[in-house]
Amino acid sequence: MSESSFIPETYKDLAEEGNFHWQAPSNIALVKYWGKHGEQLPRNTSISFTLNKCFTETKLQFERKDSSNFQFEVFLEGKREKAFEPKILQFFKRIETYLPFLKNYQFAIHTANSFPHSSGIASSASGMSALSLCLMSLEKAILKNDMDDSIFNRKASFLARLGSGSACRSTGGPLMVWGEHPAVKNSSDLLGVEYPYSVHKNFSNYRDCILLVDKGEKQVSSSVGHNLMHNHPYAQKRFEFANSNIGRMVNILADGDLPAFIEIVESEALQLHAMMMTSLPYFILMKPNSLEIINRIWQFRQDTGSSLCFTLDAGANVHVLYPESEEETTFNFIKSELLQFCRNREYIADRLGAGPVQL
Ligand code: DP6
Repeated sequence: MSESSFIPETYKDLAEEGNFHWQAPSNIALVKYWGKHGEQLPRNTSISFTLNKCFTETKLQFERKDSSNFQFEVFLEGKREKAFEPKILQFFKRIETYLPFLKNYQFAIHTANSFPHSSGIASSASGMSALSLCLMSLEKAILKNDMDDSIFNRKASFLARLGSGSACRSTGGPLMVWGEHPAVKNSSDLLGVEYPYSVHKNFSNYRDCILLVDKGEKQVSSSVGHNLMHNHPYAQKRFEFANSNIGRMVNILADGDLPAFIEIVESEALQLHAMMMTSLPYFILMKPNSLEIINRIWQFRQDTGSSLCFTLDAGANVHVLYPESEEETTFNFIKSELLQFCRNREYIADRLGAGPVQL
């Protein structure tokens, strides 16, 4: 498969006007993507849990209007959000070759997130996935053919990747892999694929309680962060480590080996942050409360033999992962010991999700 396989046949005639509406989830990486090259290609393979409650809903309204420019406006919860428009413009430029109808329309992109904007949860993965799915629905309508679901989903993920790397893992679920790896059949650098093997019941309905430690604007945007991996002294080792963790994870997901799962997931989170601490310029994105939470998790695990563990994105919030069978005890522990470290005791009790839905 190559990029050129996503360039469509010539369109015969274009749809006049209408709208498409999709809901797409956020995802949390177990083995992290951090470092890219070329046009949004990953330096290592990553694997993620698709979430259920954290999602973006996007409605794409389109009207036929030919132009030599891209014509669109973005609305967040009904209000024009100009701050989002440069990123969408860059996205349209990147995908125009694959969706040559873009300049034939005037678009209004209406978007809303299920999680508060101030939560520090990035909406780029769910947002770019939802928008890509809307654009694919439009292409399917233009082509007037019965586009196979798998072709539709693959191209949606391919496009989403060009908007934001991790977004290509938000087009399916409950587990997604992005980046070619010998241990995962059909894996590709160009798009995310649903994990192709059966997964042990220990991981069914796995929980992710997101503890909102710190709000708001990221100290370092992910694009800046990824760039810091160029010329990073530990980059090569990091990419090798991640790829070997993917190989181990495939066995762990089959065997249900929770101690080994915990080791990889926590190590991946700390390696991601270690990369930021050791780049130039350097960043510490955890807060004292993130560390408090991590220490309490470790203590609780030691005291009770629980299988909870943590992971982190490029920020201070802590994702607490645990099996469905430990729901009650873990949630009680979270309420009594961890919420005190969250801003206004805020959290989102999420779990594994199945992927996007058309509305
Ligand atoms: C730390 O996908 O946000 O969440 O491709 O520049 O949009 P861009 O980066 P982005 O990076 C996310 C990195 C991460 C780890 C992960 O999700 O794998």
